[in-house]
Amino acid sequence: VTAVNIAILGFGTVGTGVYKIIKKASRLTQNLHVKHILIRKNKKPNLPEMTDSIDEILNDDDVDIVVEVIGGIEPAHQYILEALKHKKHVITANKAVIARYMDEFTKVAAENDTKFYFESSVGGGIPWIQGLERALRVDDVNKIQGIFNGTSNFILDQMKRSGETFNDVLLKAQALGYAEADPSADIDGLDVANKLCISCDIAYDLFVKPTEGLPIFGIRNVTEDDISHFAKKGYTVKLMGKSHQNGKEFDYVVEPTLYHGNTLEANTCDNYNLISLHGETIGNLKFMGQGAGQLPTANAVIQDILDIFQNKEHLKREFKSKLKYRSDLTRSNYV
Ligand code: HSE
Repeated sequence: VTAVNIAILGFGTVGTGVYKIIKKASRLTQNLHVKHILIRKNKKPNLPEMTDSIDEILNDDDVDIVVEVIGGIEPAHQYILEALKHKKHVITANKAVIARYMDEFTKVAAENDTKFYFESSVGGGIPWIQGLERALRVDDVNKIQGIFNGTSNFILDQMKRSGETFNDVLLKAQALGYAEADPSADIDGLDVANKLCISCDIAYDLFVKPTEGLPIFGIRNVTEDDISHFAKKGYTVKLMGKSHQNGKEFDYVVEPTLYHGNTLEANTCDNYNLISLHGETIGNLKFMGQGAGQLPTANAVIQDILDIFQNKEHLKREFKSKLKYRSDLTRSNYV
């Protein structure tokens, strides 16, 4: 079997992680060959694979898989579309761009008979998308909820344990490579909204964008005093993304929620995520693991590469559902 040729677009936290893991693991290096790494125009290339030309990558017929880890909306959106149109499989960890353009990417991938995979975009290293797709092979899934953001979980957890201030802990989360370049997406709930929308798209056969009516509340206003007050009463605050599907209707919200100390949610610490689904026959299923960080996220990217290499089929997606968003629910419906 010949190796697959990979181009990595972007060499930040995740891109570097993908490169490192492939180079280090001999079980991978035989089969996976990083041919190009796209870097910014003003950056000095310090590896032979580096280029600042996207056209060089798109026009290289030997490139089988493009891994987009630039982040943000543009140019990531255009590069993904162009790569699919050049008959390359695309893998991305970029939840913001997927949440906004899932329908377009899915359609263009189908038209070009290429694969569009995004395991690493939700839950970092957790095989969540794969787990959800497997559940859906048997069940209708009518509920998804979870701790979807490693940075905010880390911040809330550290504030509770050490009493440090929000800003001090945020700096730590950035230094550890958990936070986005602009951490407001982590703190204000948009990152959770993106991940919840991607999950709802798959679970409920929808196409929803985070900007379409989703109530989003972040953790910016949660103080050290709030946290210690809740702790005295035996509760821990967690930033949750929650959604239900009920017949022809669905709802979702992103909001801080209190959990009693003996729940799994309250005990999901550090940069961990905990995501759960409910299906008719499988019942409640919970997935826990590192939801942010270089190597767990890169690991999930590589799992997608290996799925393509081994020709595994993920669920085919074309969003056709006529579910109606219910905005008349009160917040207590979600607890
Ligand atoms: N900034 C994200 C988080 C990275 O903290 O969860 C993983 O998507």
